[in-house]
Amino acid sequence: MECETRDPVSRWWQRGVIYQIYPRSFADTNGDGVGDLPGIIARLDYLEWLGVDAIWLSPIYPSPMADFGYDITDYTDVHPLFGTLKDFDDLVTSAHRRGMKVIMDLVPNHTSEHHPWFVSSRASRQSPKRDWYIWRDAGPDGGPPNNWISNFGGSAWTLDKHTGQYYYHAYLKEQPDLNWRHQDVQSAIHDVMRFWLDRGVDGFRVDVIWHLIKDDQFRHNPPNPDYQPGEWPYRQLLATYTTDRPEVHDIIAGMRAVMNYYDDRLLIGEVYLPIERLVTYYGTAESGCHLPFNFQLIAVPWRADAVAAAVDAYESALPSHGWPNWVLGNHDKPRIAARIGPAQARVAAMLLLTLRGTPTLYYGDELGMEGVAIPTHLAQDPWEHRQPGLGLGRDPSRTPMQWNRSPHAGFTRGIPWLPLSPSFRTVNVDTERMNSTSLLTLHRRLIALRRAEPALNTGAYHRIPGTDDIMMFVRQAGASRFLIALNFSSKPAALSWSGTRYRGTIVISTALNREGERFEDGITLRPDEGIVSIVSDET
Ligand code: GLC
Ligand code: CA
Repeated sequence: MECETRDPVSRWWQRGVIYQIYPRSFADTNGDGVGDLPGIIARLDYLEWLGVDAIWLSPIYPSPMADFGYDITDYTDVHPLFGTLKDFDDLVTSAHRRGMKVIMDLVPNHTSEHHPWFVSSRASRQSPKRDWYIWRDAGPDGGPPNNWISNFGGSAWTLDKHTGQYYYHAYLKEQPDLNWRHQDVQSAIHDVMRFWLDRGVDGFRVDVIWHLIKDDQFRHNPPNPDYQPGEWPYRQLLATYTTDRPEVHDIIAGMRAVMNYYDDRLLIGEVYLPIERLVTYYGTAESGCHLPFNFQLIAVPWRADAVAAAVDAYESALPSHGWPNWVLGNHDKPRIAARIGPAQARVAAMLLLTLRGTPTLYYGDELGMEGVAIPTHLAQDPWEHRQPGLGLGRDPSRTPMQWNRSPHAGFTRGIPWLPLSPSFRTVNVDTERMNSTSLLTLHRRLIALRRAEPALNTGAYHRIPGTDDIMMFVRQAGASRFLIALNFSSKPAALSWSGTRYRGTIVISTALNREGERFEDGITLRPDEGIVSIVSDET
């Protein structure tokens, strides 16, 4: 299939690479074992060296940390654990000085139960803030109003004894959902957005954006016929009436209107939905998310045919104004190296950084950090506490960044809030930086090439037939053409051409030791190898 670049004037967020920082785990400067903003500032040199264009920070707002910052008590300040507003301003200034953008996490679906809005809302049924949240009377049986369940287990309704009504929470009971049908809630969050945009923030990643509006009739969610015992209990029901409601697009349009007032800002939405629903979050050219996060590469089985089919399905589902994007990992999902192993993690990096669309790279994935098994008594994630032993806990993907070989990997001089991966003596920035074939070097080389070559950033994507194990595609801008061939298996593969004959030169191999090699009648890929090559063709 063929997809031309549709937007002749490309934007920074189309050409660039986004790097997600989980601030608790990035770099600690004061020895309390938790990463902070001065730590991020101190590591901007590294990010500049790596070549990323933007950093997205998971929440840094004041929070009791019931869900590690996704439970906010003040949307317009910084948690003292992370620093001050002054530190934040310094971070923005230092990033901008390096040509790097700063994207904040915006969590508008719910607040902390300790946010003054909720404190007021729960105080009495007459509170002026009562309708800022979702309150209902008990159901006919005297229990919760309906069958809606929480993502983190149990009913999504908690009874407030004092006022005798239930409030809705899609996540923890400490995270009551705001009522986005209320105009004042919309205005209040728009003000929050302006507060940060005025401070120079370049965009937002909006948390669980597809959850913002719930059914106004509070209908029961239907059972999920595909549910398998043992999997995530939330999947027992289809989230028909709690997520992806049609009115959510009006809410997103309202947020986008706030952003459109400013120059060149980016609106990303967190959306876990199948492709045909996901692409509706692009809205119209001026009303939707610029980038509804695309998690297909996390969701599909790691096989060449499955990945190629997912890429093609997504490319062909995009609306004409929709710019693609790709994600391999984040703070909620198992790390890519844990999922597919270190050899294929190199192939995945090449895929992420050569597909058409904005890549988002999760901190530490550029090193090959793996999932860290966390002993039960050290588990931090509330999800693990509520639904233990199902493998749902997210701590394994949130362990401290591995900077060097020193006792706590250069992350802290104190005790890290989560244990370090035992791999840190070899998997770390300092060691990998010195190694010309490391995964870190591979990322840096791919990012630099992507940045330098229009074909690889904004160019067209054109898939060519592969095999069960090999995915191949061409990226092209004008006369410049790159052929990417990725071996998803641990067997060597000899490829010969059918139809178009590609003659070319390898520019980067995942092994980082075949550069400059020429090919004409086909290529032999080594086990677990991917190549980016510059080609011309003869038919
Ligand atoms: C999002 C966040 C996740 C959080 C949840 C509730 O999915 O990425 O970390 O627990 O929303 O805010
Ligand atoms: Ca700290």
